[in-house]
Amino acid sequence: MIGIFDSGLGGLSAYKELRALRPEEDYLYFGDTGRVPYGTRSKATLEKYTRQDIAFLRARGVDAILAACGTVSSVVLDDVKDEYDLPIFGVVDAAADAAVAATKNEKIGVLGTGATISSRAFERKIRAKDPDALVVARACPLFVPLVENGYVARDCEVTRLVARDYLADVKAAGVDTLILGCTHFPLIADIIADLLPKVTLINAGAAAAHAVARALPRRADTGGSAAFFVSDDPANFDEVARIFLGGDTISAEKVDIDTFAAEI
Ligand code: DGL
Repeated sequence: MIGIFDSGLGGLSAYKELRALRPEEDYLYFGDTGRVPYGTRSKATLEKYTRQDIAFLRARGVDAILAACGTVSSVVLDDVKDEYDLPIFGVVDAAADAAVAATKNEKIGVLGTGATISSRAFERKIRAKDPDALVVARACPLFVPLVENGYVARDCEVTRLVARDYLADVKAAGVDTLILGCTHFPLIADIIADLLPKVTLINAGAAAAHAVARALPRRADTGGSAAFFVSDDPANFDEVARIFLGGDTISAEKVDIDTFAAEI
C-alpha cells in the first residue's frame, strides 16, 4: 500500500496521477487539514509534522510513501527520510528533472510556498542539472488557502486577481517553463495557464508520481483501494476532492494526528 501525505488537498494532484499510472495499487492518503498551511512553518515544526504524518501512515501499514508536499520535500525530507526503513519520495527532484527537460530557452519559473522558495531547493536541483538555467522563483502563499476553501473554478475572479499579481515576475522574465512547486497549485492550473498561455506547466506532484511508478515494482496482491484521512472536519476536503478527482465520491475519515506524536 502506498501512503501519500500533504497539508491538505494538494497531494491529490500526485494521487490522481499515481492512481492513473498504478490503478491496481492500494492507497492511503493523509491531508493534515487541521494544521494547513505548512508553507508558513519553521523547519522544526515541519520536521515534527512530517514525522507524525509518516508515523500515521506507517501505523496503517503502508510500505512506500510519497511526501506529496513541495514544502516538506524542499525543507525537511532530505534530513528525515533516511530514518525510515521504507522508501520515501518527495517532489523536488522529479519536477526539476521535468523542467530541465522541457525548457527551450533555459528560463524556468518556480512557484511555491514561502518556506519552499526560501529553501531554494528547486533552484539548487535545477542548477545542478543545468548550470546555465535562469531560475525565477516566486512565493505564492495565498494560493493555498484559496484552494483549501474551494476557490478553484477557472473563472474565479478572486483567484485570477491573486494569480495575476503573483505571476507578473515570471511573465516579465520570459520563462518558457514553470514548476508548480506546491502540490496545491495544480488545482488552479487552468487559471495559471490562462495567464501564461505559452508556458509549459510542470505539475510537481504528477512528476513525482511518474518517478514513484518507475521506482516501485508492480505487485500482484493489491486491491486498487483508496482511503482518505484528514486531521479536521472532512466536509470541505470531501467536496473539493470530489471536484478535483472528477466526480469520484470521497469520504475522508478524521484522525487525531497528535496521538502519533507518541511514536516519535
Ligand atoms: N501542498 C503543500 C506544498 O506543496 C503545502 C502547502 C501549504 O500547506 O502551505 O507545499
